[in-house]
This record gives sequence, C-alpha cells and structure tokens, in this order.
Amino acid sequence: MSIEAKDVVKEFGSPPQRILHGLSFTIADGEFVSISGRSGSGKSTLLYILSTLDQPSSGRVLIDGRDPAELSVAELHDFRNRQLGFVFQFHYLLTELTALENVLLPAVKAGEGAKRAERARSLFSEFQLEGKEHKRPGQLSGGEQQRVAIARALIMEPRYIFADEPTGNLDVANGLIVMDILKRAHRERGATVALVTHEPDFAAMAQREIYLVDGRIGARS
Ligand SMILES: Nc1ncnc2c1ncn2[C@@H]1O[C@H](COP(=O)(O)OP(=O)(O)OP(=O)(O)O)[C@@H](O)[C@H]1O
Ligand SMILES: [Mg+2]
Repeated sequence: MSIEAKDVVKEFGSPPQRILHGLSFTIADGEFVSISGRSGSGKSTLLYILSTLDQPSSGRVLIDGRDPAELSVAELHDFRNRQLGFVFQFHYLLTELTALENVLLPAVKAGEGAKRAERARSLFSEFQLEGKEHKRPGQLSGGEQQRVAIARALIMEPRYIFADEPTGNLDVANGLIVMDILKRAHRERGATVALVTHEPDFAAMAQREIYLVDGRIGARS
C-alpha cells in the first residue's frame, strides 16, 4: 500500500514544455507528506498526477502497486470515489444541493447513502457544522464551505487524501482548523495525506516535505 512515482515527466503544449523533470519517490501507507515550492514549480501538476486526475507524459504512478492508467473507466471512478479524497483551494460544492447532500454525494454514488448517513452526522458534529446540514453552500461562510468539502472528501473513509492549497482562501484561524482536520484524519484514521501548500509552517507540519524547484525535487533555500 503506497503511492510510487517512477520517473514522472509532464510536458504541456507544443513545442512541449517540460514541467516535471522525471520525479521518483514513494509515499508510504499512512504517511503525511507536503508538496511545497514556489508558484509555478509544478506542485498542482504533480498532485493531479499522483491522484489519478491527470497522467504523466512519461513515467508511471503506481497506487497500491497498480497503474491507474490500466484500470477501466468504471474501475477508476469507483477507486477514486472509495479510496481517494480530494480537497482543493476552491470547494467545488454543488450549489443547488444542501451541505448534507453534498457530503453524502460520494456515498449515494456508491449506493451507500443510508449506510453513511450516521457518519455524515458525526462529521458535521466533529467539524462544528451542526445546524448547517440543510443550508446551501452559498449560505455558508468560506471556512464552513471548506469544512463541508472536507467532510465530503472523508465520507467514504478514503485511504488517501489529496489536498491542493486547502487553506489558500481561509484566514489564519480557519486555516489552522483545516490543518487540524487533515492531521486528525491522518493520525486517527490512518489516512495517507499529500498536501500541497506554499505555507512553510503548514509544510513543516507534515512528516516529510517534497520541495519542488522548477519541477525537480530540491531543497528549500
Ligand atoms: N494545462 C496546462 N497547460 C499548459 N501549461 C500548464 C498547464 N498546467 C500547468 N501548466 C504550467 O506548468 C507550470 C506549473 O504549474 P502548477 O499549476 O503545477 O504550479 P504550482 O506549483 O501549483 O503553482 P501555484 O503555487 O501558483 O499553484 C506552470 O508554469 C504552468 O503554467
Ligand atoms: Mg498550484
């Protein structure tokens, strides 16, 4: 159980511009890793590739020893829905659904809406969202929206959590709450977490930092 990047290269455009220059590393099961570096260093590009949302131009990513590129579309959807939790800078909640419906969406997709209802309730309580269940995203504060998005990412108890600047739109207090939620998902549920952040303090909260310099693993200077 791990995520293994082998010589991951990513190029965009024509003529191709190389953004990731052959990255190799392993994220062990249950590890909390931060991916940091300056703007444009390739953090989001790498996270998308690690999390099956994009594919490398060459090289491979193996999750639990399997190459997502070799799964059928249906298998990949099911794997993402059950095993991967995504949190982004912008919450991507569905505006026409209530907070509770948004959180339960991955469960409903998996045919487990009823089975996960109790867990949804406990996430609302754990994330101090009690009473917000039937509000739509537009009626929630930015911090509340992000906590709803994280609850949605955790509803299926995924083994992997991928977060891209999840604190980017939040004030310091709300940013710390989000970091605390991610740390607890790691510590108490054993989730493997890959967190993209340009905040050195948050990057340092991880067990290990992957620091990118122009698409290569480098050192913070
Ligand atoms: N789809 C794309 N097409 C062309 N170029 C892209 C694409 N996605 C990213 N890039 C380029 O790849 C480089 C790295 O982008 P990326 O989004 O990974 O950076 P980042 O480290 O996440 O930056 P930030 O901290 O600003 O979010 C940038 O120069 C960007 O313009
Ligand atoms: Mg980015």
